[in-house]
Amino acid sequence: MQHSKSEANVKAIEEDARVATGIPGFDEMLEGGFPAGSLITLAGRPGTGKTIFGSQFLYYGAKEHKEPGMYVSMLEGRKQYQRNMHRLGLEIAPLEAKGLFRFLEMPTLTAEGLPAIWEEIVRNIEEYNIVRLVIDSFTAMTQAFQTQGDLRVFTHMLLGKIVGGAGCTTLMITETPHADASTGAGAAMQEFIADGVLHFSLVPVTGDARVRYLEITKMRGTDHQMGLIPVEIGSRGISVQSPHVGGRA
Ligand SMILES: Nc1ncnc2c1ncn2[C@@H]1O[C@H](COP(=O)(O)OP(=O)(O)OP(=O)(O)O)[C@@H](O)[C@H]1O
Ligand SMILES: [Mg+2]
Repeated sequence: MQHSKSEANVKAIEEDARVATGIPGFDEMLEGGFPAGSLITLAGRPGTGKTIFGSQFLYYGAKEHKEPGMYVSMLEGRKQYQRNMHRLGLEIAPLEAKGLFRFLEMPTLTAEGLPAIWEEIVRNIEEYNIVRLVIDSFTAMTQAFQTQGDLRVFTHMLLGKIVGGAGCTTLMITETPHADASTGAGAAMQEFIADGVLHFSLVPVTGDARVRYLEITKMRGTDHQMGLIPVEIGSRGISVQSPHVGGRA
């Protein structure tokens, strides 16, 4: 069983299959979705929509395509997460009962403890035939590292296991500290190693108003939308508006 699922993943990757997010308006901006088996970094400041985006991606896959997904959380507990998702109309429990959704709560550990965390993630991917994976967050997970070098070696090794080995399409959430992340000036290691990068932002306009944007700054092997893409978060979650013409911040 396990074996055949992994083969299915490999086949999807070879055929350059696309993994649709189901986020209204988004998939058509990148040839139907993320490349199967790719590693995508979701970067942005707090409250910009990264968790909601990742959760909708898993929910859609599970509900519409019966693809098992896993949310690995270092930041919030299962109950809190479920409550937040319920408010957006995403009912996780029935999918969990069918083995189509898994919430893996992970503590933030020391650098020594990290291999154990990764082992646990990989074990769950194999045991539950996970096809879609969200890690929330890379930042929380790697805070224990002292040097960029350690972090880099470790990330390469273990992402090789997840992305290369199991072949699941992975969204890795990264918290960015800077107000304007869209220029790419502060691009970090996780953006270089990723196959794709999405930047989430919340930009002040006149008065107290704020506009939410999403920008695809990288997507290997894909003809994708360029520039700032207006997005909205409402009671049904995140959705994409028609693109901003000529968009640069
Ligand atoms: N029902 C809703 N209607 C409108 N906006 C909402 C609703 N629910 C959540 N939001 C908005 O979405 C934001 C949370 O999005 P999300 O949790 O995905 O952010 P995040 O990027 O993961 O943040 P963090 O880095 O803090 O985890 C809230 O701050 C709020 O502005
Ligand atoms: Mg979040």
